Amino acid sequence: MPDSFDVIIIGSGPGGYVCAIRAAQLGLKVACVEKRATLGGTCLNIGCIPSKALLQSSEEFHHATHKLKDHGVLVDGVKLDLARMQARKDEVVNANVKGVEFLFRKNKVTWLKGTGRITAPGKVDVDGTSYEAKHIVLATGSESVPLPGLDVDEKQIVTSTGGLELDQVPGHLVVIGGGYIGLELGSVWRRLGADVTVVEFLDRIVPTMDTEISKALERILARQGMKFRLGTKVTGARKGNDGVTLTIEPAAGGTAEELKADVVLLSIGRRPYTNGTGAGVELDERGRIKTDARYATSVPGIYAIGDAIAGPMLAHKAEEEGVAVAEILAGQAGHVNYAAIPGVVYTWPEVAAVGQTEEELKAAGIAYNVGKFPFTANGRARAMGDTDGFVKLLADKATDRLLGAHIIGPDAGTLIAELTTAIEFGASAEDVARTCHAHPTLEEAVKEAALAVDGRALHI
Ligand code: FAD
Ligand code: NAI
Repeated sequence: MPDSFDVIIIGSGPGGYVCAIRAAQLGLKVACVEKRATLGGTCLNIGCIPSKALLQSSEEFHHATHKLKDHGVLVDGVKLDLARMQARKDEVVNANVKGVEFLFRKNKVTWLKGTGRITAPGKVDVDGTSYEAKHIVLATGSESVPLPGLDVDEKQIVTSTGGLELDQVPGHLVVIGGGYIGLELGSVWRRLGADVTVVEFLDRIVPTMDTEISKALERILARQGMKFRLGTKVTGARKGNDGVTLTIEPAAGGTAEELKADVVLLSIGRRPYTNGTGAGVELDERGRIKTDARYATSVPGIYAIGDAIAGPMLAHKAEEEGVAVAEILAGQAGHVNYAAIPGVVYTWPEVAAVGQTEEELKAAGIAYNVGKFPFTANGRARAMGDTDGFVKLLADKATDRLLGAHIIGPDAGTLIAELTTAIEFGASAEDVARTCHAHPTLEEAVKEAALAVDGRALHI
């Protein structure tokens, strides 16, 4: 008799592993299949965690070389030990993936090591061994989108995976795609000394963000030395011993030119990864697994969550769906509020957003008020020497309900949590404005922006 479980989850990224823990907490017998040698999926192994480790380390280097002298701290002979920086990143990853293994043991989740393939309803094969399950959850994640004509070797032409592993700082890094990955990894290598050029197809970077914020980010990153070729497409690449020669041309058509790079980072998006699961589930026009509001796929007994289904490809979105589907399978009412999922780009300054952008409100014909407050007028930001950026809040004109929050500035990724909670609770801008915020904190800029919605900011 094959081993049998209440739930088998295929994939141990933030969607899969969180689903496994929650299902186990609810008393279900759970197994999670993972083919990678370690748990944690893209996020812990080659995504969120290693990129944030390198962003932190490169920021420390940038502080030492550029910012400390403003504070009256003089350090001579600052040198980069990239091998140590990379080793530290690996240690951080290792601690995190081992942490998931510990959580699996603690919650009695069985890790089935190998590639999971659904062979029949309720039956999963893992590298030749059969298992049975009442429910199967696909949490197989995503992979980088390739660009025709660009042969990724993870050395000269890299995806984020190779871009996190470089063993020397490239002289010139060309980034194709000015989204989350391009700007974060572009920032890492820029801070460590590379010339960085971002080639973006559209006329602005981070196109999913509020336009005013994306324009401000472009200006600030340009001041940090990043170069931008907007409205430009890459049409070819030639590898040589001395680097890669890219052919680029205006997106709207026009004269082609060449751009030489030591390393090219391809970051034009990610696509759902559903290969080899044998699930036979229906996909949508973008290759995402189709699900209903309860994460059920077109095949009875098979559910799907995370990057493999529709919605933003973010770790915390996958986690929320993991919890929701576990609760649904245990007979509870799991659900995710997609109107309150924050997004953060971990450049410096950081960019963070939750809810709707100004463009989305205009397109939907919703009347709104705007409240803005710059970090130049925030005492704590001045004390930190980090005054780039602003908070922008959008509230319904008739009801004052908070509809969107957009921050570019120091620690924006932390500041957005307050506004995510506010949106989750259906708060008005005035609710935020009348909440006492500690002084002196960056959060006071949030309060001031909320006051500004009603034209009564105090410190500007
Ligand atoms: P994944 O994390 O992709 O996990 C899927 C797992 O399934 C993989 O381990 C894979 O090996 C396994 N698998 C697939 N098929 C099978 C099979 N048949 N059998 C067994 N195992 C299988 N998001 C954020 O929110 N914040 C960030 O800061 C952030 N930074 C990122 C940085 C980079 C460089 C990248 C690439 C992504 C980043 N993301 C970030 C996105 C985040 O990593 C994803 O949204 C998240 O990992 C999705 O989780 P998931 O569980 O759906 O899938
Ligand atoms: P992205 O979707 O964020 O950005 C891709 C960019 O490439 C867009 O600006 C797009 O207009 C541009 N583009 C598309 N085709 C192009 C082409 N042919 N030439 C030039 N530009 C082109 O995708 P990215 O950066 O690859 O990241 C994938 C996903 O991973 C993100 O969307 C996000 O969901 C997740 N992620 C999240 C992070 C975070 O939360 N901080 C960090 C890194 C990744």
